[in-house]
Amino acid sequence: MSNIEQTLSIIKPDAVERNLENEIKEMFKNKNFKIVKEKKIQIEKSEAENFYKVHETKPFYNDLCSYLSSGPILVMILEKENAVLDNRELMGATNPKDANDGTIRKKYGISIDKNSVHGSDSIENAKIEIDFFFKD
Ligand code: CMP
Repeated sequence: MSNIEQTLSIIKPDAVERNLENEIKEMFKNKNFKIVKEKKIQIEKSEAENFYKVHETKPFYNDLCSYLSSGPILVMILEKENAVLDNRELMGATNPKDANDGTIRKKYGISIDKNSVHGSDSIENAKIEIDFFFKD
C-alpha cells in the first residue's frame, strides 16, 4: 500500500541569505523527496503572523514573525512516502545544538530562531500550510 504524502518545507531567511538553497535541496533529493512545487518569495509580517498562528501565545511569536518576514524564503511542496515524519527527521531538532549529525539544522542552523528550515509537523498541518502558500 502506497503512503505518499506531501509536506511543506520553508528554507528560511538565514539559509537563503547564505546561498544554501541548492545544498539543502540536494539533501532533500538525496533522501528521495520530490520537489513538486517551489517559489521564492518575501512575505509581510502580517502573513507570517497568520502562518505561525498556532504559536501566537508563545513569548517568541513576535520575533519569529519578524524574522520569517525579514528576507526572501524558498517555500516548497515535498513529496514521498511518509514525507511529514521523514522531513522532520531530516531537519533535526528545532534547536540546532540538539540536532543529530546528518540533519539540515545540525549542518546549517545558527540558533533556535535561525534554524534554516521549517517543516509541517503533521499531515493535517501540512495540508493547511500547503494551501497557505500554494492555493491558486
Ligand atoms: P519552526 O519549525 O519554523 O516552528 C516555529 C519556530 O519558532 C521554530 O522553528 C523556531 O525557529 C522558533 N522558536 C523560537 N524559539 C522557540 C522555542 N523556545 N521553542 C520552539 N520554537 C522556537
